[in-house]
Amino acid sequence: MKATVLRAVSGWSWELTGKRFLAEVPRETAGCEERKWTTISTTTAPTTLRTARTARTAATRTRTRTRTTRIRARTRTTIRARTRTTRTTTTKFFLVIGTLPKCPYLHRMHIAWKIQDRWGSETMKQRKHGTEGSSGPYRHEGAGGRMRKFELIVPCHFGMEAVLKREINDLGYEITEVVDGRVTFAGDEAALCRANIFLRSAERVLIKVGSFPAETFEELFEGTKHLPWEEYIPADGRFWVTKAASVKSKLFSPSDIQSIVKKAMVERLKESCHTDWFPEDGADYPVRVFLMKDQVTVGLDSTGVSLHKRGYRKLVAQAPIAENLAAAMIMLTPWNGERILVDPFCGSGTIPIEAAMMAAHMAPGIDRDFTAEDWRHVIGKGLWQAAQEEAEDMVDLHVETDIQGYDIDDHMVEIARDNARRAGVEKLIHFQRRDVKELSHPKKYGFLITNPPYGERLHDKEEMPALYRTIGERFRLLDTWSMYLISAYENAEKDIGRKADKNRKIYNGMMKAYYYQFLGPKPPKSRG
Ligand SMILES: C[S@@+](CC[C@H](N)C(=O)[O-])C[C@H]1O[C@@H](n2cnc3c(N)ncnc32)[C@H](O)[C@@H]1O
Repeated sequence: MKATVLRAVSGWSWELTGKRFLAEVPRETAGCEERKWTTISTTTAPTTLRTARTARTAATRTRTRTRTTRIRARTRTTIRARTRTTRTTTTKFFLVIGTLPKCPYLHRMHIAWKIQDRWGSETMKQRKHGTEGSSGPYRHEGAGGRMRKFELIVPCHFGMEAVLKREINDLGYEITEVVDGRVTFAGDEAALCRANIFLRSAERVLIKVGSFPAETFEELFEGTKHLPWEEYIPADGRFWVTKAASVKSKLFSPSDIQSIVKKAMVERLKESCHTDWFPEDGADYPVRVFLMKDQVTVGLDSTGVSLHKRGYRKLVAQAPIAENLAAAMIMLTPWNGERILVDPFCGSGTIPIEAAMMAAHMAPGIDRDFTAEDWRHVIGKGLWQAAQEEAEDMVDLHVETDIQGYDIDDHMVEIARDNARRAGVEKLIHFQRRDVKELSHPKKYGFLITNPPYGERLHDKEEMPALYRTIGERFRLLDTWSMYLISAYENAEKDIGRKADKNRKIYNGMMKAYYYQFLGPKPPKSRG
């Protein structure tokens, strides 16, 4: 049957052949190894293709969707009103695109976004005249016309930079710098919103305001005063230096660095705003300062409460793992939503919950607020909403998963279930009270991804050798499985009885830990 080429835009092409649809994606951009045909129920004009944004299955189905409506009062308070609506969507398209080698959920997300971009901009073009070159799913105008470009700095856990880098690439942005605990990339206003909502391993997203050398407080003052603060902070903005960190630099006192930088900002804004008085009753503009070998980097924090706080964890285990670290651990494995994952020490459920969110393509920031939502003259109107809708449209809670969390403590299992319910993924995880002594699984080629106790309390220390020996024994019985285990217990490998195939030093806050990777065999390739 003859193929109809619908569009061919910078390496992207779409074809309709009778009832089949083909999306061809450049391999190097999307990490896509092969192309696949997919079936659609009708052949329609390109503008109607946009309905595929909400497509999840080929059949008509009912889709329950939680939409978050933001009502901004005249005060600075943001009130979130949640309405639950059930609606029936007749889906016209079913998209399956490519095999996705390393990090399936992210690649798929990126590809889906790119496709939406093309369809989205097609539709938007008809609504707004002559908008071109969209870099997001919608074309939006920034506050002053075109979208502003930034350098965005994203801190993460030490040791997880490679994971974050891959996530940023998968979102479609170009990395400009990687240093210990920080990745910088180039992006626009939409990128800032998307990075906050979609990055799983990130801690926060900062706009880099500038960088300069300083060995004295005078140089710090002058360098800071030289930066264009008025481009970001309005006359009523509330600004302060929330954190200063110094490594191998002459200036090291955080409180002094904080107060000098604030004073210099005030001086600069006095001149540019032609005022001596700042009411500071507007939006928040927290500033972070890093000094590394006498080079100062200053950033505006667009996130606020750290990104690891997704909002689903109300109660936690002793020594819970941060959500972004749990997500990064999972992303360092070849696990994907179709494989088995068991956390035998699940505590408050963080690892299984993060895995379930990935399997369901649920963005980590889908249900929280960000400081920069109030930066009306920095972020174009509608961009937060667009990123939020993009995230909501991707969620698919109908995926089949085999994710389990066990803990010896009944109460922890209850807490884990409660957290999963809050995250909206309780149906994708099975939690159960179980001692690691009874760990077993009837299926092959699964993944143990876990954060066992490491003797955090003094009186627990003596129990560690026996506990890690049990982990080793139970793991040996799961002979086709892989195990990924983060621990600060120094004899972990010795007591498990096997040297890890790989290990990685990770800093969980100030605490040094190792991420041990015991690799099992690959499952045989399924035919067909
Ligand atoms: C470090 S915490 C795990 C924290 C978890 N990752 C989180 O984010 O909440 C270790 C957990 O192992 C559980 N545990 C201790 N001994 C166990 C055993 N023998 N079998 C199963 N679970 C055990 C504890 O109850 C605790 O919840």
